[in-house]
Amino acid sequence: MHDKLVDNYGRIAKKLRISVTDRCNMSCVYCMPTNNMKWFEHNQILTFTEIVRLTSILVDLGVEKIRITGGEPLIRPRLENLIGAINMIPGIKHIDLTTNGLLLKGKVSQLSSSGLVSVNISLDSFKENKFKMMSGVTGVDKIINSIQHARDAGLDVKINTVVIRGWNDDEIVDFAMFARESGLTVRFIEFMPLDGSGIWKTDLVYSKREMIQRINTNIGEIVPINNDSSEPARLYSFLDGIGTIGFIPSITEPFCSKCDRIRLTSDGRFLTCLFENPGYDLKALLRDGAPDEEISRFILESMSKKPEGIIKLIRTNSLRPKLNLMHTIGG
Ligand code: GTP
Ligand code: 5AD
Ligand code: SF4
Repeated sequence: MHDKLVDNYGRIAKKLRISVTDRCNMSCVYCMPTNNMKWFEHNQILTFTEIVRLTSILVDLGVEKIRITGGEPLIRPRLENLIGAINMIPGIKHIDLTTNGLLLKGKVSQLSSSGLVSVNISLDSFKENKFKMMSGVTGVDKIINSIQHARDAGLDVKINTVVIRGWNDDEIVDFAMFARESGLTVRFIEFMPLDGSGIWKTDLVYSKREMIQRINTNIGEIVPINNDSSEPARLYSFLDGIGTIGFIPSITEPFCSKCDRIRLTSDGRFLTCLFENPGYDLKALLRDGAPDEEISRFILESMSKKPEGIIKLIRTNSLRPKLNLMHTIGG
């Protein structure tokens, strides 16, 4: 019943990231294409019933935790119904959500009563003009408001900040202070080549080491705290124990050997790695009337071919912009 999702490197998948839409109400430079935007058609997108069926099959194979992603997942109407249905699947231990926070405020109570326990909210700048430059819209106050509402509702909240050199690295110190003052975990993310705009290049990657240096110099020393090696974020705290800061160093310290994730895209593809393309078409099987056992077999066969990951792309010097389109995968 469990631990069947093993790849050829011995990694076992326990976490499933479900992207429920490729659409978004922002257009972040590190994610969305700037032109020739083509969303998935309505009939290409999995229905909630189809998502729940595939999730149940994956839970039977060993998945325990679900993260709902997008595009922007809260754009999908009645998302709380999906979360409620997934929460009923025997074996599910946790359901989390990654959102840009713009639509969160009004949905917090339905989401938490449907079984959601935590939200990761993206915020790349506190300055409205910079925020607009990076995301295409204004909304810093709205997002700060959503963060407060989510906390008040008892959801566990973490902040995701993608750092791009020359764009928002000057705010690393402000975000670290925000972590100290708010008590929220702020995670700084190294820019990965998953942008749709084609701007990614090595020079734009602001490394974990540089970020730590900047915080140490401007605020005070941070030190590693009890890290769970299966999480992408390396957690640090200030010496006085106040303020939790994480780093997701996909480029400079890739964590592929500990990878325990798989993904389902909104158009029904199974991805064994963030950098796999196009992945495996589960929707076709599903809509052709395949029974659970056949879908299950197909998943296990795909799983055995899981690539080594970004670590291999780095080793072989194969990183380049648009390796995959983030808004169709959900991170
Ligand atoms: P937690 O379970 O709260 O740790 O969530 P998370 O950090 O795994 O998920 P989130 O959606 O908040 O993603 C934060 C960043 O981590 C995004 O940039 C993701 O693309 C990146 N990320 C998540 N999973 C993986 C992974 O398996 N590999 C790589 N390279 N990056 C990942
Ligand atoms: N590199 C790193 N992180 C990214 N995200 C989106 N695009 C990228 C990228 N190219 C982050 C978002 C969100 C999470 C799902 O992934 O900021 O927090
Ligand atoms: Fe896992 Fe692929 Fe991310 Fe590496 S790059 S941690 S293998 S999803």
